[in-house]
Formats: sequence, structure tokens, C-alpha cells
Amino acid sequence: MDRRPVVLVLNGPNLNMLGVRQPEIYGRETLGDIEVACKERAIELDLAVDFRQSNYEGELIEWIHEARDNADGIVINPAGLTHTSVALRDALILSELPVVEVHLSNIHAREKFRHHSYVSPVARAVICGLGGFGYICALEAMSRLIAAQEA
Ligand code: DQA
Repeated sequence: MDRRPVVLVLNGPNLNMLGVRQPEIYGRETLGDIEVACKERAIELDLAVDFRQSNYEGELIEWIHEARDNADGIVINPAGLTHTSVALRDALILSELPVVEVHLSNIHAREKFRHHSYVSPVARAVICGLGGFGYICALEAMSRLIAAQEA
């Protein structure tokens, strides 16, 4: 039986276009590259990573509902929904799981409308501006958060 803690890594709208989407901001790394890097690091951290992307708010919310029973933590790059979605925030609260919010770009160095996040107040940590490496940092943080809960 696989007893590794499960981390749901969720990616919001347009992140499937990484690699071609505004590379001057988001870099050339694809979401597939980030998924591979996350899974490699997860092996070293003894975590299982469930890596997903959707362009649909409702689908992301349903995955978060399922995570209540199926996951031990959530790493999320909510993408544009960061700045708009009360519903996504509500879902993260009801999951009762530790949440780490990730952004590839430094949202605070960009347009004003990106400075506010509905997710940050309900996240245990926020990582932004490190590109794909931010996901790796988030997994390391999650590994510690889950271990601390289990201790
Ligand atoms: C993003 C930042 C958001 O403002 C933007 O809408 C995205 C990506 C990031 O990873 O830097 O889609 O979450």
C-alpha cells in the first residue's frame, strides 16, 4: 500500500499554454516540464504528487472538494482566478488542508490588479517570482507542513 502523503498540485486557467504564453514574463518552461520536475522532487521528499490543470473554475473547485478526502495538502497556482474568485477561496477553506499558493511571476511587481489575491489570506504560504522553481519550493514547504501535522 502507498502511504506517501498526497499533494494535489493545481493549475488554473491558461497555464496549459506555458512555454508559448508571454515567455518574457513566464519563461520558456512548459507545464509538462514543471510537472516532471515536481514529480522528481516528490520522489526525494517521499510525497505523491497529483498534478492537474484546468481552464474551468468549477472543475478546479470540484477537485478541491475531492481533495478533502484524497489529499494531504494543496499547492495551487490559481492563475487569473487568484484576483477574482471568492468561490475558489471558499473551496480551499472547506478543504481544511494546508495550502501553498504559487505564482511563476512576481505578481507584486506587475499591474495593480494582480497585487490582490483572494487566496493568500487562506494559504499557509505564498511563493511568487521564482518561475517553475517556486513549485519545488512549495513542495518542500508542504512536506514540512504535513510532517508537522503528523508529529
Ligand atoms: C500567475 C499570475 C497571474 O496574475 C496570472 O493571471 C497568471 C499566472 C503566475 O503564475 O505568475 O495566469 O498566476
